[in-house]
Amino acid sequence: MKTKVLSTSDEDLDIAAEIIRSGGLVAFPTETVYGLGADALNPEAVRKIYQVKGRPADNPSIVHISQIEELKGLCLEITEDIRTLAAVFWPGPMTMIVKRDPKIPDVTTGGLDTVGIRMPRGKGASELIRRSGLPIAAPSANISGKPSPTEAQHVLDDFDGRIEAVIDDGPCDVGIESTVIDMTGASPMILRPGFLTKRDFEEALGKPVLLDPTLNQRPDPSRDDFHPKAPGQKYKHYAPDAEMILFDGDPENVRKAILAEQKRREEAGQKVRVLFFDEAHEREAARYFFADLRKADRDGIEVILASALPEEGLGFSVMNRMLKSSGFHIIHV
Ligand code: TXA
Ligand code: MG
Repeated sequence: MKTKVLSTSDEDLDIAAEIIRSGGLVAFPTETVYGLGADALNPEAVRKIYQVKGRPADNPSIVHISQIEELKGLCLEITEDIRTLAAVFWPGPMTMIVKRDPKIPDVTTGGLDTVGIRMPRGKGASELIRRSGLPIAAPSANISGKPSPTEAQHVLDDFDGRIEAVIDDGPCDVGIESTVIDMTGASPMILRPGFLTKRDFEEALGKPVLLDPTLNQRPDPSRDDFHPKAPGQKYKHYAPDAEMILFDGDPENVRKAILAEQKRREEAGQKVRVLFFDEAHEREAARYFFADLRKADRDGIEVILASALPEEGLGFSVMNRMLKSSGFHIIHV
C-alpha cells in the first residue's frame, strides 16, 4: 500500500473522508498530537488500528467528534457538568469519559461501558470528521510504546506503507495528548494529565476535581499495586531507544550534574543528548518533548540527560510523560 500524504485542501479532505467512510485508516493532525483514525462505528476498521499500532485490545480509543451535538448519539447520560466542560473547552485538548451508547462497538471501547469523547481543534481534524459524517476513533498515531507523533513525518516513520493516508498540517501546537477526565463518578477525576489542568476544570465547574491517585505514584516493578483507571496508563510508554535519565533539584545543581554526567558518558564513548527544560518554558517543553525524543533516536543517541520540571500545572503533565520515557529513572541532586 502506498500511503498518500494529503494537505488540508478541500479536495484532499474529501479524499481522506472517503477513505474513512470505506473503512480505511487516515492519520490526521489535532492541536495535541496526530491521531490514527477510523470509523468508530465500524469494528473491522477499528480493529485495523489495533493491528498496525500493535495496541493491546483492552486499551480503548478516544472517539472524535466535530460538533458538541454529536455527544447525544454517543453518550447515554449528558449531565450538567458534561455540558459545561464541553461548552468551555471544546474544541480543545480535553477528552471526557462518559457512559457509552451501546451502538459504539466493543473494539472501540476496549469492552468498557464508558467511552472517551473529544472534539479536537484544527481544520485537518474537524473537517475530516465533518466530511466523513462519522465519529472517528483515534489513538495517537504511533507504534504502541513509542513517543506520540507531533509531525506528519513521525507518522510516516512508524506507518509508511501500512495506512491509506496522512493529512499533513505541520507540527502540533500543544505537543502532548489531551487531558482525560472521567465524568462518570461522583466527582470528576483526571485520569491523564494534559494541557488543561485540574485548576482549569475546577474554575469551569466551581467544584473540586480529583486526580487518579496513581498519577502521583512511581510504579515499583517488585509490587503489584499500580492500577491506573485509564487502561493506557499502565503500559510502557513514550520510550525512546536511548537510555534516559532525569535530574531534579536546584537548577544550578541540575545543570552541573548533567554536564558532569555528559562528560563521563562521552569519555566512555557514548553518544549523549542533553535536554534542558525550565519552568519559564513549560509550553515549549510540552510542544517539543516528543519530537526531541524521536530526533534523538534518528540521530543514534545512546543516552538522553534531561532536567526535570516542577510537578505543578502544565509541568505536572509534561513530567508524567518524561517520567515514563525514562522508565521513572530520576536522580535528585
Ligand atoms: O490528544 C489526544 O488525546 C490524542 C489525539 C489523537 O486525540 N489521542 C490519544 O489517544 O492520545 P490514545 O489512545 O493514545 O490515549 C487515550 C487514553 C489512553 O490512556 C486510554 O486508556 C484512555 O485515554 N481512555 C480512552 N477511553 C477510556 C475509557 N473509556 N476509560 C478510561 N480511559 C480511557
Ligand atoms: Mg497514545
